[in-house]
Amino acid sequence: MISEKMQDALNKQLNAELYSSYLYLSMSACFTSINLKGFANWMRVQAHEELAHAMKFYEYITERGGRVALLSVEEPPSEWASPLAAFEDAYRHEQKVTGLIHELVELAGAEHDHPTNIFLQWFVSEQVEEEASADEVVQKLKLIGDAGNGLFMIDRELSQRVPTTP
Ligand code: FEO
Repeated sequence: MISEKMQDALNKQLNAELYSSYLYLSMSACFTSINLKGFANWMRVQAHEELAHAMKFYEYITERGGRVALLSVEEPPSEWASPLAAFEDAYRHEQKVTGLIHELVELAGAEHDHPTNIFLQWFVSEQVEEEASADEVVQKLKLIGDAGNGLFMIDRELSQRVPTTP
């Protein structure tokens, strides 16, 4: 059985993952509205991944005999000044999520909750990838600057992203 403190913290993370999904879906809608379909595709795939992350927390809390609590999901922003601004936000957001995951690991340690510690290790590794994949696009966008052709090349590249089961 999981402690109430750990259960509440995992429920908060479930909420943070749902917010991540909401945020990326909002970015996807923004890109769709300006006809950058590849960018929109990348963000939609990301939104699906975040939903899968949320479900991992959902299932784990249940498996440990805890009670899932579905807290309110905050409204995400809906507009970004440029594709670069959106991806910089995505990168910053992933850095924040990494911090949240690390705090959970510390709490699991303090609670002597070894199963939760092991469960969280997957997320520790996943966050390294999450930060890297957002930053990769940030760096590409910085490289092309205002060049329209480069933007369409990246758009074509991002249209290739397909969902993977995390
Ligand atoms: Fe669920 Fe993007 O980390």
